[in-house]
Amino acid sequence: MKTEKIQIFDTTLRDGEQVPGCQLNVQEKLVIAEQLELLGVDVIEAGFPISSPGDFEAVKSISALVKDATVCGLTRAVEKDIHVAADALRLARKPRIHTGIGTSELHIKYKLNSTPEKIIERAVAAVSLAKSFVEDVEFYAEDAGRTDNAFLARVCEAAVKAGATVLNIPDTTGYCLPDEYGAKIKYLVDHVRGIENVTLSTHCHNDLGLATANSIAGVRNGARQIECTINGIGERAGNTALEEVVMIMRQHPYLNLDTNINTRLLTQTSQMVAEMMHMTVQPNKAIVGANAFAHSSGIHQDGIIKFRETYEIIDPKEVGVDDSSIVLTARSGRAALAFRMQKLGYKLDKDNLNKAYDSFLVMADARKVVKDDDLHELVEKHKILVNV
Ligand code: KIV
Ligand code: ZN
Repeated sequence: MKTEKIQIFDTTLRDGEQVPGCQLNVQEKLVIAEQLELLGVDVIEAGFPISSPGDFEAVKSISALVKDATVCGLTRAVEKDIHVAADALRLARKPRIHTGIGTSELHIKYKLNSTPEKIIERAVAAVSLAKSFVEDVEFYAEDAGRTDNAFLARVCEAAVKAGATVLNIPDTTGYCLPDEYGAKIKYLVDHVRGIENVTLSTHCHNDLGLATANSIAGVRNGARQIECTINGIGERAGNTALEEVVMIMRQHPYLNLDTNINTRLLTQTSQMVAEMMHMTVQPNKAIVGANAFAHSSGIHQDGIIKFRETYEIIDPKEVGVDDSSIVLTARSGRAALAFRMQKLGYKLDKDNLNKAYDSFLVMADARKVVKDDDLHELVEKHKILVNV
């Protein structure tokens, strides 16, 4: 079976940047956009041009800078938004306008004070207007996760008829379960006329910790684009993490789904975004957390030293990490101590390893993590014979 390409739509600079404290200036956004292009993303959502002069400027400058990726600007289904986005995207080699409107009962009634029929009219008007400026128009049905499937299919069909090239199905509030979200995508594949001519996109939020699982359920049911951010940053609990969905597809080749991402740049990109956006990555974060390839329990360390794959499903080099690390704590065993000693040039026979290990445990209880300097100190202080 042929492997199909999943487009990676990065929204770090739009949905990610909405997080309080993560705001970037134009220069910083350009640096990240350049890195995203190097990483191999297919689409860069550069901002929401009507929202501020700074965001307009950012979308404009990124449009001029980016060579291969599509550059996308967000709008509401509002005429002025679309005019401003089209202007900001003027210099883009591959411009895309991303326009849309809320489609759930809650959004229609309480946010938009409207009716389902008027929502369809506004969706069609927005897509048609965007289409008068650019060929590539993405339509989002905000809160699609909580939208009735039959109505969602009607809105999507109208958007396709009006010229949308991509249909984005956001689980805006991170509410769906994976099988429910996958079934929603499948329902659209089966019920929207003309859907075979457009790309279906996932856009999942992480309020219940399901953004990654939902995005994968989406592509397993026919979506061909995933919207995501580096480190999963984004509103509230965040968006789908780019590095997670990319590595899931890479690690499960039988899915026959892959991306254009150069995975060796994932760690570097993660660190750049964390630093520039002042948003530290939790140490146990999948793929890019500081502990993602660190082993601290004796049983695991023993396995890793014998054969890496006993406790690692990803070769760290694949994501740009030099090596797995053996962290010495009071839970570590003799094999780990001998391994780290050897890295420092100390070769210990059995008796000296036993002697060193007893002192090591006392040190580890006191210091929690035993570093290289501590090991040098231990060898000297306890007169451990090495290289005998
Ligand atoms: O979460 C969402 O619904 C969005 C849309 C604006 C695409 O970010
Ligand atoms: Zn979103």
